[in-house]
Amino acid sequence: MSKVKVGIIGGGLMGREVASALGRWFVLENYPVQAELVAVCDLSEKQREWFRQIPTVSLLTADHRDLLASSEIDVVYVAVPHNAHESLYLDVLRAGKDLLAEKPFGIDLNAARTIAAAAKTSGRFVRCSSEFPFLPGAQRAYQFCREGKLGKVLEIHSCFHHSSDLDPTKPVNWKRQVKTCGEIGVMGDLGMHTIHVPFRLGWKPKRVYAQLQKIYHERPDSKGGMAPCDTWDNAMLHAEVEIEGAEVPIRFEMKRLAPGETNTWCIEILGTDGGVKYSTKEPKTLWTFQRGKEQIWQRTDLGFHGPFPTITGGIFEPGFPDCFLQMWAAFLAERAGKLDGRFGCVTPEEAVWSHELFAAALMSHAEKKAIMI
Ligand SMILES: NC(=O)c1ccc[n+]([C@@H]2O[C@H](COP(=O)([O-])OP(=O)(O)OC[C@H]3O[C@@H](n4cnc5c(N)ncnc54)[C@H](O)[C@@H]3O)[C@@H](O)[C@H]2O)c1
Repeated sequence: MSKVKVGIIGGGLMGREVASALGRWFVLENYPVQAELVAVCDLSEKQREWFRQIPTVSLLTADHRDLLASSEIDVVYVAVPHNAHESLYLDVLRAGKDLLAEKPFGIDLNAARTIAAAAKTSGRFVRCSSEFPFLPGAQRAYQFCREGKLGKVLEIHSCFHHSSDLDPTKPVNWKRQVKTCGEIGVMGDLGMHTIHVPFRLGWKPKRVYAQLQKIYHERPDSKGGMAPCDTWDNAMLHAEVEIEGAEVPIRFEMKRLAPGETNTWCIEILGTDGGVKYSTKEPKTLWTFQRGKEQIWQRTDLGFHGPFPTITGGIFEPGFPDCFLQMWAAFLAERAGKLDGRFGCVTPEEAVWSHELFAAALMSHAEKKAIMI
């Protein structure tokens, strides 16, 4: 079994999730690669200190150049604010390391194109993060479409909804400001999650009409004052894809202000012969439709069957840490040439396409018209 040593740049919310995934790597069964977290870089000492409890971590640093100089490290995961993506991703590639990049893969389209070009030139293995498609329900929905059960596709709906921003007293952070999150706002935050499955099915939009909303324009700054919030809160992208010569409507919804939704990822695909629906709101439920005499949506109670087998009992329910682990398993399996036809992480090309969609959405909203992509 080959061994991969991983370093993290950005030990915040997502950096810790990676530590959690790699810390229980042994749950994967008959998996070809052993993975170990060995180094963490974060500007904040408090964030770095949290990683001291992980016995395999031997390097903690505030300077990412120290981490990249380590010949021990094979793969680097970077999870930092979006304005730092481009320079850090390029530094990782220059250092000759493979990269699992957090979304949105650069703060804007230019940054994404620069990173993708550098990835190609470097020859390094580069993928972008999007974990929800690795849930059993999402995988089944994807397979349903690939098996040709839809007939003529009628419409596609892909969503990712949050609600914590409904609270106007929630303090500002870097995700609420254009300078650190990007002009694309919520599309950069949540959009990659909505495009992964449709793009992988070959459904790449050719025209988009966008409705973007900014609801709260300022938030508490934690110092007794108020700070501006200038990013988009909600985005609805009404687009078209071409499937077998027909134009099919596809709707991508990304919302920070979605009443009742803590972290809801969903996909719904309807066709003349069949349909499929899955939402993390009901994490073990898959809804399928097959045309017949009566109109029947069938509910399947799913078990714990991700693309990569684990020791977890087949009847148990999956959650966020599970799909995140499966995404890492897909990343390292593909890197080792052992994906074997399974679903893979977002490619640099798909990440650039997502930015093309989001850039067109910004233009569409500004000009109040549909934009060709
Ligand atoms: N895949 C997902 O589900 C998911 C969820 C949340 C966030 N994200 C993405 O992950 C990335 C990080 O988001 P987060 O929520 O973890 O943010 P966070 O604010 O919790 O953590 C970011 C960390 O990066 C550190 N940092 C900033 N600049 C740095 C630098 N130059 N060198 C080293 N450390 C630096 C900060 O000190 C902070 O600890 C973003 O790209 C975000 O879009 C992905």
